[in-house]
Amino acid sequence: MELIETVAELKQAVELQKQRGRKIGFVPTMGALHKGHLSLVNRAGCDTDFVVVSIFVNPTQFNNKEDLKRYPRTLEADMELLKTTPCDLVFAPSVEEVYPEEDTRVFEFGTLGSVMEGEHRPGHFNGVAQIVSKLFDMATPDKAFFGLKDFQQLAIISEMVQQLNMPVEIVPCPIVREADGMALSSRNTLLSDDERKNAVTISQTLFKAVEKAKDCSINELKEWVVETIDANPFLETEYFDIVDYKSLVSIKSWDSSVNKIGCIAVHCGKVRLIDNVTF
Ligand code: PAJ
Repeated sequence: MELIETVAELKQAVELQKQRGRKIGFVPTMGALHKGHLSLVNRAGCDTDFVVVSIFVNPTQFNNKEDLKRYPRTLEADMELLKTTPCDLVFAPSVEEVYPEEDTRVFEFGTLGSVMEGEHRPGHFNGVAQIVSKLFDMATPDKAFFGLKDFQQLAIISEMVQQLNMPVEIVPCPIVREADGMALSSRNTLLSDDERKNAVTISQTLFKAVEKAKDCSINELKEWVVETIDANPFLETEYFDIVDYKSLVSIKSWDSSVNKIGCIAVHCGKVRLIDNVTF
């Protein structure tokens, strides 16, 4: 497994594999790797011949400077974990390497980019689109693997690939959870023991909401979710919405025939956590 820090070396390494007829799989990450990330890398190993993992904490997607500063950076431990996977190449560039000059591109994703995370983290998805489009250009993958944990991000990236006619297949991968149901996240390492114990209320409430869905209206259920989570003194809900899986438009009644997903963001101390569940 090779560690590469420059774009030129990455392009050369990938080109060599392509000449050998190998299909390139790509897993973009911000590091502080956990089993959720590794599940993507393993899937990439099953679906493609040469797996590239990028580790880059992308400053342009952080709308909160403190969050960027606090974000865990654990390259050595990440490399050790990746040795247990089919990863062939790790791309861990510097900020200057990725952004030799400021990226001023502005993307437009309509409703997909303006609701939920888009509404509460202004500029976040523009930064995600900037970095993922650059990384796709650098790694030229045949397939790229993304987790359903960041459901809206997946929708944005699929839309971006369509808008720009990028020749890459986006592969959605299931959410990996801890034994107690908590979705794995790099940010979980920033929680105190008490916060971590209480944060499980988020996923537990989402799972209960799926069971309760038969017995109440969408509005009643949304209120119940927010009340239940906010009753825990460690937690404060930023938003919870039940939306159409494709358009991300908020759903008003259960009888609409579209697939529905409930998406939530919750503050636990200084840490912001997201999760989602399919209805
Ligand atoms: P990061 O948060 O490191 O996540 C990298 C990938 O791992 C994303 O596709 C994310 O959805 C997936 N992932 C995280 N937790 C997961 C879990 N519990 N189960 C399954 N998949 C999980 O998402 C980003 O980085 C960045 O925005 C990035 C796309 C790399 C652009 O900077």
